[in-house]
Amino acid sequence: MRLIVTGGCGFIASTFLRQALSKGEVERLVNVDVLTYSGRRENVRELLPDERFRNVELDICDAEGIHALVTEERPDAILNFAAESHVDRSLFAARAFVRTNIDGTLTLLEAARGLQNETKRPMKFVQVSTDEVYGDLEDDGGAFRETTPLDPRNPYSATKAGGDLMALAFARTHGLHLVVTRASNNYGPFQFPEKLIPLIITNALEDKPLPVYGDGKNVRDWLWVEDHCKGVWAALERGRTGQVYNFGGASERENIVIVRSILSALGKPESLIQYVKDRPGHDRRYAIDFTKAKNELGWAPAQNFEEGLQKTVDWYVENQAWWRPLRDQTFETYYKQHYGKLGLEA
Ligand code: DAU
Repeated sequence: MRLIVTGGCGFIASTFLRQALSKGEVERLVNVDVLTYSGRRENVRELLPDERFRNVELDICDAEGIHALVTEERPDAILNFAAESHVDRSLFAARAFVRTNIDGTLTLLEAARGLQNETKRPMKFVQVSTDEVYGDLEDDGGAFRETTPLDPRNPYSATKAGGDLMALAFARTHGLHLVVTRASNNYGPFQFPEKLIPLIITNALEDKPLPVYGDGKNVRDWLWVEDHCKGVWAALERGRTGQVYNFGGASERENIVIVRSILSALGKPESLIQYVKDRPGHDRRYAIDFTKAKNELGWAPAQNFEEGLQKTVDWYVENQAWWRPLRDQTFETYYKQHYGKLGLEA
């Protein structure tokens, strides 16, 4: 199997790359990453010696570059993990999200379609997405199913919904063998320290205040990143064309409970907790019904949340050389360096 993976220098896709290279049937694995602030070369360093692996620094919006790469590599499948993914950033820089999450997805879909037309071989495509496209839930025990109407409530999730719909349209109109996967909040090693769990761990290690939005009672369903990547692999192998598959961790927790667990794991005081102004349009609760993935793909999450959280805390304690340099990377610096060059405005 020959695969092109996008966004492989980021948290989720770098985990996927490590898993994929451990599989005998993978004969070629190409990572396409433009190295934004959250894409780190060091996340794939250990994979470079494997001669099946190729690392390409390329923007998924670069239609010419993507076309040339797909023509050269002739993959059996493209897995699109690349995304601008942080909700808070999307609140004041939505254009970058439209560019990568919609335009970039379209560029990849066009390239896949071109190769399929040329070779007359079925081309697979996995669009890796998020449960945030469904909006949010009341505290009434309900959960998102694949049939839940899309109701994105922030600029980030609006662009992911747009990318998903474009992808599904390519399955219908151009016969791409495409599936969309939608996962709940991932956690684990290598996550950029802007997301709740690594932010709280790294702030606590530096004895900095821990910002908790609103009343801290928003609920997320936490999915161990390796479980998620196994789901993506199962969807690649066994997903039905034009279908959506939800992946959840069966681990709903209030944010404040997680913050307290991290403090206790690190032996730090609760006085570090600082309640701050709520995120605008803050989704209250996410929960995932993954019955379809279980029945059709034979997938279910395996990691117990408390053990997974402890493993994550341990990883950040032991890998301070990985995250300490990232802590200075404010969005302003990044924006000037990266999107400024592209002439984009927030
Ligand atoms: O549900 C999947 C989504 O999960 C992914 O599609 C997104 O890419 C990913 O960023 C994540 O979105 P969230 O907004 O849920 O993740 P975040 O880590 O930003 O926040 C998790 C919860 O913690 C949310 O209720 C907001 C809260 N929070 C977050 C931060 C960064 C705080 O209370 N304080 C914080 O400083």
